[in-house]
Amino acid sequence: MLSLMRPYRLRIAVALVMFALKDLPVWLLPVITAAIIDDLVHHGSSARVLLLGAVGLVALLSNYPTSMTFVRLSSRIFRQIAAELRVATVSELQTLSIGFHTRTSASVIQSKLVRDVENVEFMLSTGLPAFAGGIGILIGAVTVTAVQVPAFVAIFALVIPVSALIVSAGRRASRSLNERFRRDVEELSGAVGEVAALMPVTRAHGLEAVAEQRIADSSHRLRASGRRLDHMQGRFNVSSWISYQTLGLVCLVLAAIAALNRVIPITPGQVVLLSTYFGMLTGAVVQLLGLAPLFTKGIESIRSLGELFAEPDREHNEGKRAVASVTGELAFEDVSYRYPGSAAHAIDRLTLHVAAGETIAFVGTSGSGKSTMLNLALGFVRPQGGRILLDGSDIETLDLRTVRRHVAVVPQESVLLDGSVRENVVYGLGEVPDDVVAHALREANAEEFVAALADGWNTRVGDRGSALSGGQRQRLAIARAIVRDPRILLLDEATSALDNESESLVREAMRRLNRGRTVLIVAHRLSTVRNADRIVVLERGRIVEQGGHEELLAANGAYSRLYADVVA
Ligand SMILES: Nc1ncnc2c1ncn2[C@@H]1O[C@H](COP(=O)(O)OP(=O)(O)OP(=O)(O)O)[C@@H](O)[C@H]1O
Ligand SMILES: [Mg+2]
Repeated sequence: MLSLMRPYRLRIAVALVMFALKDLPVWLLPVITAAIIDDLVHHGSSARVLLLGAVGLVALLSNYPTSMTFVRLSSRIFRQIAAELRVATVSELQTLSIGFHTRTSASVIQSKLVRDVENVEFMLSTGLPAFAGGIGILIGAVTVTAVQVPAFVAIFALVIPVSALIVSAGRRASRSLNERFRRDVEELSGAVGEVAALMPVTRAHGLEAVAEQRIADSSHRLRASGRRLDHMQGRFNVSSWISYQTLGLVCLVLAAIAALNRVIPITPGQVVLLSTYFGMLTGAVVQLLGLAPLFTKGIESIRSLGELFAEPDREHNEGKRAVASVTGELAFEDVSYRYPGSAAHAIDRLTLHVAAGETIAFVGTSGSGKSTMLNLALGFVRPQGGRILLDGSDIETLDLRTVRRHVAVVPQESVLLDGSVRENVVYGLGEVPDDVVAHALREANAEEFVAALADGWNTRVGDRGSALSGGQRQRLAIARAIVRDPRILLLDEATSALDNESESLVREAMRRLNRGRTVLIVAHRLSTVRNADRIVVLERGRIVEQGGHEELLAANGAYSRLYADVVA
């Protein structure tokens, strides 16, 4: 946070000076009021009163330029800092490992980026000036009093023990109630997220009442803890109001008695002045106390963002060798990988050599480690034993971001963004000529259905491609891979069944895509396996068989058993 603010330190200083200047009338007016009252009491001249009035007016009007300068400056600075904080957080997210992102739900990250940054921004833009203002008034009121009626500074000091008493009484209750409330808010937003995500499942099984009950329970808990918080805050506000007003009254009475009995030389005007300043002083204290929740929230949000910056699980690419081109030869040498918290190895001392341009189909039962092989090849997970070589170099020594420019991935469930067909195909590539996009769509067997859409390739595909069928989404994902013209292709074949026609369209598209590249494919379809150069059969993270389709069938081993299941 400090390093984000550092470039603006000069502007922040100017903003704070403007802030102090804009409060000038607040100081000056009680002094002017006191002077006018004393003039009145001592039958002074109207001219002097007019002059005092004019000075007051000038001070009041000067508030406009100083206030506006402050608002402009501070809004620019703090909005800018919030924007930079979001950008910094996103670039931090890009360095965190995929493992971190699989563990962390998207809604948590979203809430950090949107809500936490907003809290920090609010703390800076509203809390900081209010804090500075409160402190300024405190200092100003005490200083002017010390100059005018030094004896009363001691009475002003009474505010400190009274505040300490109120704060300590309120704090413990406030902290636990605030925390309870925040947890209930989180609980509710979690429940809402889940209910929204499960909507189709809920509706399909007629469980509407269960979902409603879930939200109702959370809402009622939130209502209860909200009311407790309201009552506590009410008690706090009322008792501090009564205490400070009482102190103010005491101050006025003492000042009046001092004036009447001439214990301290004090004029009627000064009695008003003291009373006004005392009111300002207590007002400032109340304001400062009221800022505590805002700061607690802001600091908690900084901590929440800090979690990302302190996360150790990240991908280190800086300073590693960038690759300009890739031939696509891959070698797994004695590679082992175990997921954190898992007892068994997902990949167990596996050795496999893939020649450039070769198509390897991984087959095996569910959980045998097929997807993990793709994640290892992509560098999403790092082997705990052995090494993975790309064109003869250990991928640990390479800048994976540059490697991945030559890799395309078609995941098991195609991930589409809520944009047009074209945007989905060229995602992240910048300017791509129309004929290249058209070619990719044609190769992916997507040309026909895209042309039939209302707006052609400018049609939006809906949230995560919800406006498209499963087979159409897969073909767009294939077009996305084709347009990248990768050297290495990683394909996790969708398990969802497609009808015969879309199945054959997807298959054809995949065959075109595989041409001339190194392909690692997790195969669920017989047709895919038949087209592969080599089939690798995995079992509990080990290779149990490999070879061509006919060859493996003839061997009558693990593959033929799997095959029998598929065919049956
Ligand atoms: N994020 C994870 N955390 C812990 N264990 C995991 C994780 N992902 C996978 N595993 C485990 O690692 C093993 C291999 O998983 P993998 O996803 O590679 O299987 P798969 O062959 O792709 O299965 P499927 O055909 O069902 O997709 C499984 O036993 C699985 O339970
Ligand atoms: Mg899998």
